[in-house]
Amino acid sequence: MIEFLNLKRVNAPHEAGIQQAIQRVLDSGWYILGQETQAFEHEFAAYCGAAHCISVANGLDALQLILRGYGIGPGDEVIVPSNTFIATWLAVSHVGATPVPVEPDPRTCNLDPARIAAAVTPRTRAIMPVHLYGQPADMEEIRHVADRHGLRVIEDAAQAHGARYHGRRAGQLGDAAAFSFYPGKNLGALGDGGAITTDDADLAARLRKIRNYGSSVKYEHEVVGINSRLDELQAAVLRVKLQHLDTENAARRAVAAQYLIGLADTPLALPQVAPGAEPVWHLFVVQARERDALQARLLQNGVGTLVHYPKASHLQGAYAGGRWPALPIAEQLQETVLSLPMAPYLMEEEVRMVVAAVRKSLSV
Ligand SMILES: Cc1ncc(COP(=O)(O)O)c(C=O)c1O
Repeated sequence: MIEFLNLKRVNAPHEAGIQQAIQRVLDSGWYILGQETQAFEHEFAAYCGAAHCISVANGLDALQLILRGYGIGPGDEVIVPSNTFIATWLAVSHVGATPVPVEPDPRTCNLDPARIAAAVTPRTRAIMPVHLYGQPADMEEIRHVADRHGLRVIEDAAQAHGARYHGRRAGQLGDAAAFSFYPGKNLGALGDGGAITTDDADLAARLRKIRNYGSSVKYEHEVVGINSRLDELQAAVLRVKLQHLDTENAARRAVAAQYLIGLADTPLALPQVAPGAEPVWHLFVVQARERDALQARLLQNGVGTLVHYPKASHLQGAYAGGRWPALPIAEQLQETVLSLPMAPYLMEEEVRMVVAAVRKSLSV
């Protein structure tokens, strides 16, 4: 059986380093906002090529804190992709603003810049592109639209640690970016975690306060903040794993290349890489006409798969009753997308077995 993802296998190569890191934190006697967090923030900012990194408790908080930091709230609108994990929408809703969905280009599954202008109103404050499945969105075109309308660009980079767009890393492609370190991400912790990267020093200073009860000096609370911090243990673990992120992303790229060759002549629609984009293959998502039947046959043939995502945000109970535009592409994708096993540990032989199982399941 080739599982969709095995987190124990993801972390096994780092076990010794992680154990040392955990022991170091235990011995330090300092567990929140200490040296490990500070060091990780420096290292992750440098990795992304951003001036500042503010670590937080999770990716959803990272997104909503950026919105709060820019003063986006009730009465404001934020453009989001119609096909994304619901956190992108929830971040907008949590600050009291309204998510305005725009459809993707079905070939890349990323926000289609040509559709954005039609969704802009006098209330629009920001565009929040998602680098979905690890492929950077078309940031140049998105920036053009944003500049024409005076909008912020906030990257949802939760799935794209290390991805590049025309040579620049995710996390440095907009005004600010949100990352998640949920265990299954390309850079995953042993629990929840998140971070914001930005070159905007004022925003960074505001966010450092907001994440820590609105305080930069103990027991002085200048703004109404929250408690959203990455703890020392997770920061120490992430420092270990960050050192191997590029190697692991290269391993994912090799898996993707093997899939792209092995499945090229099948009826599946394979993921397309846009010009200038260097994806990090958080997920390898194919599109199949009879997706559910294929998924069932793959399971019988010993391959685990998942669907990202089976129900678009506007169809969720959380967003029932909203006045959403017609979103046929998102509704089509939820019926056709299928994520094949993707992880840095996958061996050539295992990928060959997945390819063989897919071909057998499709009778090609
Ligand atoms: C696209 C996207 N945005 C935001 C998030 C939220 O991150 P977290 O689970 O750390 O809150 C995730 C992952 O869960 C995601 O995939």
